[in-house]
Amino acid sequence: IKTMQKILITGGNGFIAFNFIKVMLKDDYDILSIDNLSLSKYLNHETINIKSDKFKFIECDIGSNDVCELIKNYQFDAIVNFAAESHVDKSIHSSNLFVDTNIRGVNNLLACCNDLIKKGDLPSDFRFIQVSTDEVYGSLTQTEPAFTESSILKPTNPYSASKASADLICMSYFKTHHFPVMITRCSNNFGPYQYPEKLIPLAVNNIINNKKIPIYGNGQQIRDWIYVEDHCLGIKKVLEQGQFGHVYNFGGYSELTNLEIIENIIQIMKPNEIANQYIEYVEDRPGHDTRYAINAEKVLNDLGWKPSHKFSNAIDETVNWYINNSEWSQNIMQTDQYKNWVEKQY
Ligand code: DAU
Repeated sequence: IKTMQKILITGGNGFIAFNFIKVMLKDDYDILSIDNLSLSKYLNHETINIKSDKFKFIECDIGSNDVCELIKNYQFDAIVNFAAESHVDKSIHSSNLFVDTNIRGVNNLLACCNDLIKKGDLPSDFRFIQVSTDEVYGSLTQTEPAFTESSILKPTNPYSASKASADLICMSYFKTHHFPVMITRCSNNFGPYQYPEKLIPLAVNNIINNKKIPIYGNGQQIRDWIYVEDHCLGIKKVLEQGQFGHVYNFGGYSELTNLEIIENIIQIMKPNEIANQYIEYVEDRPGHDTRYAINAEKVLNDLGWKPSHKFSNAIDETVNWYINNSEWSQNIMQTDQYKNWVEKQY
């Protein structure tokens, strides 16, 4: 029986959170979204444009004192923490923001919710979901079995190390304070509204703009791709049925090399043309993880979740979304913040 109603979504302007909000509003939840707008003020318009009396947006950082006041005043039934600096390459250039948001910010949320719970100032069935990543497990060889929830944490870059740190702090709050936390770890998401710095939107936008797609190293690294809506439905299941102190892995059962992904996109956009002319091999990402793969049996057995989108259909839809909504990406790509990033990285 669902008793939860009021949900705080942090990082609500980000790609996965924004898609999650849309899923939740279909099911009559009251959503308050916060974001520090670190990526781009532009993204804000998308969130503000949600027309629903069940939705509200406030600019706020998870590391601030204001967030504690807000949590107390609104009496949320649950918090889903999506707020994170998420781009591996950026964390390689500078890790400060990653430690600030992904570790200190999460700690701030936990500490403040824990205080409120101890004082009886939050609903008795309050729960907290930390949205994490498969990257906390580190890298697999081609033949190793996929990560399970009990695989050891062995992050390799500043981004994944910051996410793993947050996971450990969450689990310490569960053990020490019986804090009602659950952690989700998902593989690579794709779908509408992903920031154009990431591989799939970058590839589509580069083709639109007559630029080559930069492939790091030999392009043989493997990622397990999942359609963002499948991931969001999984998080919703954890929110509604998950057990405190548990970790839940989500994956898309679609392991592909980067080169295969890019060839797929070129095939959709430029059918029957030679893919190589759209590709440029560039210097490899330092410490580049070879392969991520997720064993998602636990969520199938415990929560009855499995992805419902087929990769080939979902990638087709996604590429077409970026083509039909190219203004959305172009507006971000024209900001100084984005241009400076591309200049620095490529
Ligand atoms: O596995 C989950 C993770 O997936 C999330 O935790 C991260 O927040 C998310 O950014 C993503 O990390 P990746 O590093 O796998 O995603 P990205 O899109 O940056 O890169 C995907 C692969 O493509 C990776 O092997 C690096 C490669 N790549 C990426 C870019 C941006 C290229 O070859 N060229 C590029 O220009």
